[in-house]
Amino acid sequence: RDFTIAIDGPAASGKSSTARAVAQELGFGYIDSGSIYRCATLLALRNNIASDIDKHWPELIDLIGKTGVEIKIQPNSNRSLSVVAAKTGRLVVPSVQILLDGEDVSNDIRTPEVNRLVAKVASDGGVRSAVLNIQRSLAANADTKATETQGNGKDPHVIPGGVVMDGRDVGTTVFPNAELKIYLDASAMARAIRRWDEMNSQLKNKQTEEAARKQENKADTSVPVEYPSVEDIARELEQRDYADINRQHSPLRIAPDAVVIDNTNLTFEQQVYSITDLARE
Ligand code: CDP
Repeated sequence: RDFTIAIDGPAASGKSSTARAVAQELGFGYIDSGSIYRCATLLALRNNIASDIDKHWPELIDLIGKTGVEIKIQPNSNRSLSVVAAKTGRLVVPSVQILLDGEDVSNDIRTPEVNRLVAKVASDGGVRSAVLNIQRSLAANADTKATETQGNGKDPHVIPGGVVMDGRDVGTTVFPNAELKIYLDASAMARAIRRWDEMNSQLKNKQTEEAARKQENKADTSVPVEYPSVEDIARELEQRDYADINRQHSPLRIAPDAVVIDNTNLTFEQQVYSITDLARE
């Protein structure tokens, strides 16, 4: 691996979708480190050690070491994103599947329960070193290739293979020697509204699925989902940021050599291309 891009920042700052688009644009591997902490949290919940987690750190660390985590990026197109963007003006973000011992847990790791507990799980030093091992081994085995690129109207030239990892401490602790470090931020209100939008579009998809099921006269066994208000989400993000900034082990910090991008007033395309431009420099 020749090139590492670390993207850190607070909750719901857009790291994950930005990192995925940057990875696809550059032909790099992608690792979502937050999803590994979320998997660790899911393991605690499933093994009934979440409610008194302070007594069960060794057990959880053992579970993390024994469980396989895979992150699969699914490109929406074989063409480079720039080609797609030139046609539609919009970048297509590839979707990502998170597998825990082969089981797809992509939805299970984004429940309100996991949201509430994940910062606590991520505060433990032993958990962090177990996750660090996974992060480094996923990066070492990431599917990367050198690509000749003409993206974003620049002169074509070869960029080496590499990996994009997003999280809280990637530029400070996981890969302190990363070639490019980005700290992605946005106003608290912008982040809460985005997360709320995401949840609402998920709800809409669910409702469409349910309507289709009813039309087919199939029994509707689904439980109606209560989605939180934008104020609830703002509070949850604020609590998580507070815990992430104030924890003892590798807290959320801006690396001294990071480029800070505040995307409150940027389009998605602008922020992605500002990062790929920096990588190509
Ligand atoms: O997507 P969102 O910004 O809500 O969160 P995430 O990236 O999935 O991360 C979930 C949680 O994992 C964070 O709130 C942190 O507590 C923890 N985390 C961490 O401690 N270090 C990382 N490198 C990544 C995530």
